[in-house]
Amino acid sequence: MRKVLISALILVIFASCSLAETIKLPEPNKTGGMPLYDAVTNRHSSREFADTAITLQELSDLLYITAGVNRPESGLRTYPVAMGLQDTFIYVFNYEGVYKYDALTHSLELIASGDHRNETGKQDFVSKAAVNLAYVHDMSLWKDSKAPKELIASWGFAHTGAAMQNAYLFAASKGWNAVVRGSFDSEKLSQLMKLNEDQQIKLIHTIGLRP
Ligand SMILES: Cc1cc2nc3c(=O)[nH]c(=O)nc-3n(C[C@H](O)[C@H](O)[C@H](O)COP(=O)(O)O)c2cc1C
Repeated sequence: MRKVLISALILVIFASCSLAETIKLPEPNKTGGMPLYDAVTNRHSSREFADTAITLQELSDLLYITAGVNRPESGLRTYPVAMGLQDTFIYVFNYEGVYKYDALTHSLELIASGDHRNETGKQDFVSKAAVNLAYVHDMSLWKDSKAPKELIASWGFAHTGAAMQNAYLFAASKGWNAVVRGSFDSEKLSQLMKLNEDQQIKLIHTIGLRP
């Protein structure tokens, strides 16, 4: 009887964890890693991945380096943004679901459960790699700005490029592989990710362990 109760308890805990609407990420590592000069020298694109998940700690570190808050007093990030306005968001596709990264609370909000990695691109490797990060620019945050729309849209690419290079350097530092992609079905993905017309996917970054 005791064994049955313990098994039931484990099942309940597991179910509630895997269905969690919000995942608080562990505190990221903020020091260490490969020296910057070595990481830059090692950065490259590769389309070969092991079919291996990464740990929550590794995901936490990846998201912190890519787009985390490195100055809590201002909420500013590891990459620069025009006028300090955080208009670019990271969505994580892994084997469990699609999540939106909240840098301020360093947590993940569940957008869609289940493995949707294969919907991020046509190449086989996208569903093998541990994660695909989608960089999403939200124009609505600039609705009161007098800056021309084209200029604001170009800032979205600038922000994505800066964050994306952070992710590449993290992958290089870990000895992982990564490739950023501009080719994906934006319409289908936007529906899945519940994006509105102001929110545009700029690039998708496939990242994971080497085979
Ligand atoms: C904006 C942008 C879009 C890209 N789109 C794709 C893509 O759709 N598919 C792909 O396999 N690689 C894509 N890449 C990766 C490039 O092919 C790769 O960066 C280039 O070959 C240079 O190699 P390196 O990153 O190793 O320097 C893209 C890179 C950038 C910067």
